[in-house]
Amino acid sequence: MKDGVAVIGAGVIGGAIVKSLLKSGYDGKITATEIRRKIEKIKELEKLGAAITWDNEKATKESDIIFICVRPNDVEEVLKEISKEIEGKLVISTAATIPLGFYKKIAPKARFVRTMPNIAVLVQEAFTAYCCDNDVTAEDKGKVKEILEVMGICEEVEERHMDAITALSGSAPGYISIIIEALMYAGLKVGLPRDLSFYSSAQSVLGTGKLILETGEHAAKIRDMVTTPGGTTIEAIYELEGSQIRPALMRAVEAATKKCEKIREAWGISQT
Ligand SMILES: NC(=O)c1ccc[n+]([C@@H]2O[C@H](COP(=O)([O-])OP(=O)(O)OC[C@H]3O[C@@H](n4cnc5c(N)ncnc54)[C@H](OP(=O)(O)O)[C@@H]3O)[C@@H](O)[C@H]2O)c1
Repeated sequence: MKDGVAVIGAGVIGGAIVKSLLKSGYDGKITATEIRRKIEKIKELEKLGAAITWDNEKATKESDIIFICVRPNDVEEVLKEISKEIEGKLVISTAATIPLGFYKKIAPKARFVRTMPNIAVLVQEAFTAYCCDNDVTAEDKGKVKEILEVMGICEEVEERHMDAITALSGSAPGYISIIIEALMYAGLKVGLPRDLSFYSSAQSVLGTGKLILETGEHAAKIRDMVTTPGGTTIEAIYELEGSQIRPALMRAVEAATKKCEKIREAWGISQT
C-alpha cells in the first residue's frame, strides 16, 4: 500500500488531483476535504473511490502526504488548523504566489513542496513545476515526482522561477483556450460546420504541441516546415505577424508574473 494522500480543498485543482490519482489506480487511501457547508459538492469524488470529509484535521492525521489546494487567501487559516497534524509530514501546496518561507514559519516541523500544476491534471497532461524546502529529503522528492507524474510531466525548479511558471504554464490553458476558440470561430467564418471547426482547432493545437515535444524541434522549424513558398500558410502567417500576437502573449505572461508579486505585497509577504 502506498502513502495515504489527503487533498485539502477539493475544488477545481484539488478535485482534478483526486480524480487523476483515482484514475491512475493509485494504491493508497485518498481523502478529499471541503468546507462543511460544501461537502455535498464533492460527493462525486466519493463515488469515484475517495473518502470525503469536512474535517481537515482528521484527514491530515490519517494521511501521510497532504495536498493543500485551497485558494491563496485561505492557505494561512488551513495551515494553522492542521499545523500540529502535519508535523513530520510531507505537504504539497498548489497555491499560487505563496512562498515556502510562509509555510515554514507557521509549521516549521513539516516538509513543504510548492507546486504549480495546471488544469490539464484532469487528463494527465499537466506540466507541474515544483520547488522544495531544505528539509525535503531525497526519499520525499521521489514520492513527489511519482505522484506528480501521474498528472503529467513535472520538473523541479528554483523557487525564483515560480511566479513566471504560474503566469506561463499555470495559466496557459486559459490562453490556449482563447486561441482554440478563436480558431474555431475562424473556421465558422470560412464556412466550416461547428463540430468540424471545433475538433480541427483543438486537435491541431494538441498535435502541434506533441510534435514539438516528441521531435524536440524548435517551434520555428515546425512553422517553417508547414510554410510552402507562395502557398496558403504564408498568406495566413503574414496576417498573423501584423496582428502583434507575439507581443500580446509576452505582455500577458509578464502581467501575470508581476501580479504574483503585487498579491504578495498586498499581503505583506515576500518571495524569500
Ligand atoms: N484552477 C487552476 O487552474 C489552478 C492551477 C494551478 C494552481 N492553482 C492553485 O490551486 C489552488 C486552488 O485553486 P482552485 O482553482 O482549485 O480553487 P477552488 O476551485 O476555489 O478550490 C478551492 C476549494 O477549497 C475550498 N476551501 C476553502 N476553504 C477551505 C477549508 N478551510 N477547508 C477545506 N476546503 C476549503 C473552497 O470552498 P469555497 O469555494 O466554499 O471557498 C474550494 O472549493 C489556488 O491556490 C490556486 O492558486 C489553481
